[in-house]
Amino acid sequence: MRSLHQGRGLGEGATVAECLATAARQLAGALALPPREARLEAQILFAHALGVNRAWLIGHDRDVPTAAPVIEALLRRRLAGEPVAYLLGEREFYGRTFRVTPDVLIPRPDTELLVELALEHLPQQATRTLLDVGVGSGAVAVSLALERPLCRTCGVDLSAAALEVARANARGLQAEVEFLVGDGFNALSGRRFDLIVSNPPYIAASDPHLNQGDLRFEPRLALVAGSDGLDLIRRLVGEAPMHLETDGWLLLEHGWDQAGVVRDLLRGGGFASVFSAKDLAGHERVSGGHR
Ligand SMILES: C[S@@+](CC[C@H](N)C(=O)[O-])C[C@H]1O[C@@H](n2cnc3c(N)ncnc32)[C@H](O)[C@@H]1O
Repeated sequence: MRSLHQGRGLGEGATVAECLATAARQLAGALALPPREARLEAQILFAHALGVNRAWLIGHDRDVPTAAPVIEALLRRRLAGEPVAYLLGEREFYGRTFRVTPDVLIPRPDTELLVELALEHLPQQATRTLLDVGVGSGAVAVSLALERPLCRTCGVDLSAAALEVARANARGLQAEVEFLVGDGFNALSGRRFDLIVSNPPYIAASDPHLNQGDLRFEPRLALVAGSDGLDLIRRLVGEAPMHLETDGWLLLEHGWDQAGVVRDLLRGGGFASVFSAKDLAGHERVSGGHR
């Protein structure tokens, strides 16, 4: 990476404002970001490295920043494409901060729809049982457990490393969740739940987006599900009836163009009241039905 300020790198007298401007230019060029987004990313990375907030950066724009090697190292990794959430080690989801590592999917704002729909099926004082298949960072399971503390929440994931992150998040946010390592429902024989939610991997193995942006750095296990992306969804729809109480609901997040197929799978699997709901971008993103 070139020094942050032509001829004067960090620690060589460049001010916070000068370093931010140069970093923003480099980010815009390397990652094809619009200028405003590049500037925001530069501020976020500097603030993280310096242990301050963005307001401090604006108020101290004529200071010469300390921690130059830390800022340069973070910027170098971001310029190589590493997701901001992995560099910071955290991401906000449903109003709370979750720890994230490269062992887990970075929680997406779209997945908040799955949480909202689940909550609609869980009255405030409900004492129901919930299952989240594919917990990852724990974003969904921990959010539901905190929003509905009287419910009993269980989360499974095939990745033991992901479950470590989910456990740390549940501890840190003081959520009661039972975590199990398992492939689909196989750790849950004989157990039934009032509500099963899942944001499973749903990208087709040949999808070129896997080689772009943040997806390049996220676990393949969290993203890819067979040649059409529907392998795990098919299994979950097929096996969920054995793990749902009578009238229990299954809610599944899926790709923006998979709603029709998922609704057909649900109807074919004997689910009633099958529906799809739209995400912030207007795409049908979550489908569900009840037993
Ligand atoms: C798309 S991520 C969702 C993570 C988290 N729930 C979220 O919404 O941010 C899918 C998760 O499913 C897990 N997974 C993949 N295949 C699985 C399987 N057969 N059984 C259980 N979990 C699986 C992955 O390890 C990953 O953590």
